Amino acid sequence: MNWKTRGLVACLVVSASLAVARDPSRLAPEGAPSTGDVASAAEPGDRLEVKGVVYAADGRTPVPKASVYVYQTDAKGYYRPDDAMGNRNPRLMALLRTDVAGRYSFRTIRPGSYPGTRVPQHIHYEVAATGQGSRIFEIIFEQDPNVTAELRKQAAEPGSIYSLRRIEPGASGVGLVTQDVVLER
Ligand SMILES: [Fe+2]
Repeated sequence: MNWKTRGLVACLVVSASLAVARDPSRLAPEGAPSTGDVASAAEPGDRLEVKGVVYAADGRTPVPKASVYVYQTDAKGYYRPDDAMGNRNPRLMALLRTDVAGRYSFRTIRPGSYPGTRVPQHIHYEVAATGQGSRIFEIIFEQDPNVTAELRKQAAEPGSIYSLRRIEPGASGVGLVTQDVVLER
């Protein structure tokens, strides 16, 4: 592992070590909406809209009421203004519940690499549903020059913690990202 990815992996270990279902702060309330703002319209950065469907482990059955916790850095790579690595209490986050068709969506900005590093820009996901498996992973972006050939290879492996997504052009300069989620068994 080279220095470029070390920070990212350290961050992932922290996330993965927290069982989604055991930490109420990382589970959306029962009545949470299926759509929300990770970053308000006033947040500096390139606007993104992310949407998708949560499926059961069969990859076909949509899961309503699944909890979707998403969080990320700001455009400068900081989880908190006073703590770049404060990913336990990120400023930019949302707690959502999928709708009757398993859908969720959120508005945000494109995150920055951690300050002074070449760690790829990423959006963390922690997804869980009652009576189903969970899923912890992160979106990385096709357009990010810090996504190396090695990361692309890892993202292509089944069950990878990386989901490599392309930002598609949308209306008014907003980038569109589609991210479906298949829960583990
Ligand atoms: Fe992170």
